[in-house]
Amino acid sequence: MEFSVSRKDPSQVKVDCLVLGVFAKRQLSAGAQALPQATQEYLQQVLKHGDIEGEPGQSLLLYQVPGLEAQRLLLVGGGKLEERSAANFRKLMAGATAQLEAGYSASAALLLKGLPPDSATGYQSGRDLVMAAEEALYRFTQTKSQVEKPRRPLKRLQVLIPDSADEPEVKRGLEHGRAIAAGMSLAKDLGNLPGNICTPSYLADQAKALAQDEKALEVTILEEKDMDKLGMKSLLSVSRGSRQPPKLIQLEYRGGPSGEKPVVLVGKGLTFDAGGISLKPAQAMDEMKYDMCGGASVLGVIKACLRLQLPLNLIGVIPSSENLPDGNANKPGDIVTSMSGQTIEILNTDAEGRLILCDALTYSERFKPAVVIDIATLTGACVVALGKHASGLMSHQDELADALVSAGNSIGDRAWRLPLWEDYQEQLKSNFADMANVGGKEAGAITGASFLARFTKKLNWAHLDIAGTAWIGGDKKRATGRPVPLLMAYLLNRAAQGN
Ligand code: BES
Ligand code: MN
Ligand code: ZN
Repeated sequence: MEFSVSRKDPSQVKVDCLVLGVFAKRQLSAGAQALPQATQEYLQQVLKHGDIEGEPGQSLLLYQVPGLEAQRLLLVGGGKLEERSAANFRKLMAGATAQLEAGYSASAALLLKGLPPDSATGYQSGRDLVMAAEEALYRFTQTKSQVEKPRRPLKRLQVLIPDSADEPEVKRGLEHGRAIAAGMSLAKDLGNLPGNICTPSYLADQAKALAQDEKALEVTILEEKDMDKLGMKSLLSVSRGSRQPPKLIQLEYRGGPSGEKPVVLVGKGLTFDAGGISLKPAQAMDEMKYDMCGGASVLGVIKACLRLQLPLNLIGVIPSSENLPDGNANKPGDIVTSMSGQTIEILNTDAEGRLILCDALTYSERFKPAVVIDIATLTGACVVALGKHASGLMSHQDELADALVSAGNSIGDRAWRLPLWEDYQEQLKSNFADMANVGGKEAGAITGASFLARFTKKLNWAHLDIAGTAWIGGDKKRATGRPVPLLMAYLLNRAAQGN
């Protein structure tokens, strides 16, 4: 979709639909002040009839509204005026977008004033409205033989603002929102694809496709033999149980000065996790196609950075494999030697994410990174702890952890920090190897991170467990595109600070 910002007189814009907010009870949003007297009086009449109270989710489509060039006017409910928040603004925008499309408007103009909370900057409002609109319009149709297309898809949205001083900021917000939404959309597509299509090779091809005609991006695919040479025996022990060849996807985005240390994002790219010999129960096992969402988020972030030509250096590393039961698969009790030289007793073959990530993390040392963040659908325990509302964040580095938490808060993609105290390391003791790959039933998200911490001692590292946030289960099953927003907010902050 196309987004633009303008200071046109709202009564004069020739669009299919003008969008205006209504707050409970029956209060027009501040944007209405810019409408002609006749329009305002008419709307007061409509409100008096009580067809819309202004509750969240409510809407009313009006035709032939006096004083307007626009063909229609859509009123959308925003809830209580005093409860305006960034989250409610996003909901309102998502609802409005869906209504516009359902109401056959191809072009629309939004009276922005008074919809976001007073604390929101023009930048945030612009960014958030694009992200919410794109979220509402996203459809995954690649695997349907017949696709119902909207009769008149929404194509253009103008954001009307009264104050010229805000224009550059809103515009910049729209631009960032568009790039982040495009990154999320890629991450969602890859997540939603089934395991038989989205294999490690498919992910590698997608990475290569991203680099087409892009000077700033170089993609290298490490094959099984390359990984073998590097000693990635932990990673390869997982892929050995699958007929799909593993891939280590490396993306080097050079947007910053050549000497500048990069940020490295390591994303779990497990394209299907059956658990291996420690086979998972059948219930909802299909959702384990989403076990590559960490890797998908890395590709999404790179896509967004390319769009914005972000001035920083960023490396993506995506270890990609399947985890299946097979005659050649890992067996409980097997011991492997990781690239770091540390040995691992595999007590549960379903704790495979850490087995592929540990070698990818060791590998990331070669980039002499400023920061390494791994992103992984690592533990069911994280879903138990935090649900779908926040990703789990674990790090020994307070500054990095704080920066990630606040980046997430600023863009509605929250992470919550869990402790990573040494005390937990005890749970990973093994009788036969340097460590076990599981730490018992207590604090599963933290012992997963504690395992990874043993491979990141030389790094400024944080771990994001996105098991609860990367997709939504149930009858509206779908990938969310998270944590692309959090990571982009973090990277945009870094770029703004010049590193
Ligand atoms: N991919 C799963 C984690 C997962 C499970 C994410 C359910 C979302 C929903 C991971 O590979 C896994 O199986 N982890 C095990 C670890 C355990 C054996 C220590 C888990 O969480 O059960
Ligand atoms: Mn698993
Ligand atoms: Zn997994």
